[in-house]
Amino acid sequence: MAGEHNKGEQPGELDVLLETEQTFPPPPEFAAQANANDPAIYEQAAADPEGWWASWAERLEWIAPYEQVLDWSDPPFAKWFVGGRLNASANCLDRHLAAGLGDRVAIHWEAEDADDPETGEEREGGRRAVTYAELSEMTNRAAGALRGLGIGKGDVVGIYLPMLPETVAAMLACARIGAVHNVVFGGFAAASVAERMEFSGAVCLITADATLRRGQPVPMKAAVDEVAAEMPTVESILVVDRCGTDPPMTPGRDHSWSDLCAAADPDCEAEPMDSEDPLFILYTSGSTGKPKGILHTTGGYLTGVTATHRLIFDLHDETDVYWCGADVGWITGHSYIVYGPLANGATSVMYEGAPNYPAEDRWWSIIERYGVTIFYTAPTAIRACMKWGREHPEKHDLSSLRLLGSVGEPINPRAWLWYHEVIGGGRCPIVDTWWQTETGAIMITPLPGLTTTKPGSATIPFPGVEAKILDDEGKEIEQGAGTLVLTRPWPSMARTLYREDERFVETYWDRYGRETYLVGDAARRDEDGFFWIVGRIDDVINVSGHRLSTMEVESTLVSNPQVAEAAVIGVPDEMTGQAIVAFVIPEGQAPPEPEALAAELRDYVATKIGKLARPKRIVVCDDLPKTRSGKIMRRLLRDIAAGEHLGDVTTLRDPDVVRDVESRFRQQA
Ligand code: WTA
Repeated sequence: MAGEHNKGEQPGELDVLLETEQTFPPPPEFAAQANANDPAIYEQAAADPEGWWASWAERLEWIAPYEQVLDWSDPPFAKWFVGGRLNASANCLDRHLAAGLGDRVAIHWEAEDADDPETGEEREGGRRAVTYAELSEMTNRAAGALRGLGIGKGDVVGIYLPMLPETVAAMLACARIGAVHNVVFGGFAAASVAERMEFSGAVCLITADATLRRGQPVPMKAAVDEVAAEMPTVESILVVDRCGTDPPMTPGRDHSWSDLCAAADPDCEAEPMDSEDPLFILYTSGSTGKPKGILHTTGGYLTGVTATHRLIFDLHDETDVYWCGADVGWITGHSYIVYGPLANGATSVMYEGAPNYPAEDRWWSIIERYGVTIFYTAPTAIRACMKWGREHPEKHDLSSLRLLGSVGEPINPRAWLWYHEVIGGGRCPIVDTWWQTETGAIMITPLPGLTTTKPGSATIPFPGVEAKILDDEGKEIEQGAGTLVLTRPWPSMARTLYREDERFVETYWDRYGRETYLVGDAARRDEDGFFWIVGRIDDVINVSGHRLSTMEVESTLVSNPQVAEAAVIGVPDEMTGQAIVAFVIPEGQAPPEPEALAAELRDYVATKIGKLARPKRIVVCDDLPKTRSGKIMRRLLRDIAAGEHLGDVTTLRDPDVVRDVESRFRQQA
């Protein structure tokens, strides 16, 4: 959470607003034109949720109509739009071409190095306006290429790519032939890719020669080669040429994406899919070390993302320029870069790189250039922009913006107000959207033409969604804090964990019964019925809006031969929301220079999982505080890291240990 003083921001105006606990009703001009402007939709959807969701499903193009909206006879395994057949890529592309929208820009893509940082000159191909017709041809050719490799319905295809139009085409190409995509965020290390390919039994992996990081190519294909032996099911690797680095190719296994696509037919028939056929798997962190393969299916998912994207972002597809700043590798990218916007025929911006490359005004220059009207990002990014200072956005004309969104973690009121004033010019409603990989679509959120917002609250459930706060006994808490649950099935809900039905039930549907979805977040409900997300109730930490499991980081640390034992905790961090702190006991003799070992281990985690999991601090200790039964007391470690008075230490096996850990924490700072 951001502290009281951000360098780039003078206390003053914001503090006054913070103290007054101001609320923000929708501006009347906004409300007048909003897609959702009738408050009665909440009651209507609550009275007939199936009818409500069906009204959205009807806007999709079905190859065969469904016979039943919802089959909830075997909870938690829901079936939505039972018996219906459709194809997700046809809904995102063909439908719009048939409606005469082929020339509409689907994606304004901007490369990180769109301009030469030295000369300022525009590079060829650095900015691409990809129309629906062009995206359709790219997708059809890629789909044909995949089919040519023998890939078809039900096969899992891994995608490990930077933010490129080709990445979107690759996802849609899978959907087109009924293959199940399994996208891995480009910032993950190759070892994480291999693990996710192995767990899902992927037959193919689509990657790039390299990705740009702050203007420099970082190899991807070569990194994949190093772990190829760990993913024995992968028979083919397709390589998109992003940086022209010409990596070595293994004949028979590796193929050039562009060669295969060029040779493929520009028309590839879309596979008619059952509404409940899988669309994708997306791995996310859980409370154990092994990531969970969240499985989403076709008809319900597409219905959920279409409805939420149109109403929450108030999309007017003929005029809006929409920009979601997430990466396609996360659920936000799947639902609100790819499927929601494309199903709705939106014109989007897609930016490849860092927000501060080559300078801190990069995002704002993009908003100005394309006339972005709707902008969706994460609190951690907003806090980074606050720190860089308001002079950067102030260099640009941001008057095209009319709506702002936030996702990924609770947004602290100070960042909310800065976003509202400095970026939104005081005129744009902010939608603070709460949801998860598992929910597929936004669940708790304002509707910008209807909801009076309170900075820091995601407000109320989307129409048709029912959220409650329960106590330990499962009794509802109408006002106050407790465990957040969703009590009614919704179309975009995860159907299972891939190949782990039992774990799915245990993780989400055991605590309060088979019809109550355990979110994993604690939340508070205020006197107006507004929800305030407090944080996770499990061993998941949220670093810059990215979910990481403490156990995953711990097991990575102990996989290093220099580490005997490790305990990982999340601590509050001004910029990243939470940060990772690890305590390790070295194998054998204590090292003479604990800092050197700590630095080495931080890099080790980065190469094993990805830079996003690199602990902010690693403290080398001789022992860790444990109970008599040998359980590590993470609560005490959290107290130490927070500099707080230590709680009860009498249950410890050796109370001296905690003092030792405390002094090392301070020494090794
Ligand atoms: C957190 C990201 C508060 C929450 C879409 C959730 C939020 C987890 C918000 C899911 C928000 C997401 N306010 N907390 N607006 N949005 N979270 O699966 O803890 O990467 O359970 O999905 O992020 O993270 P995931």
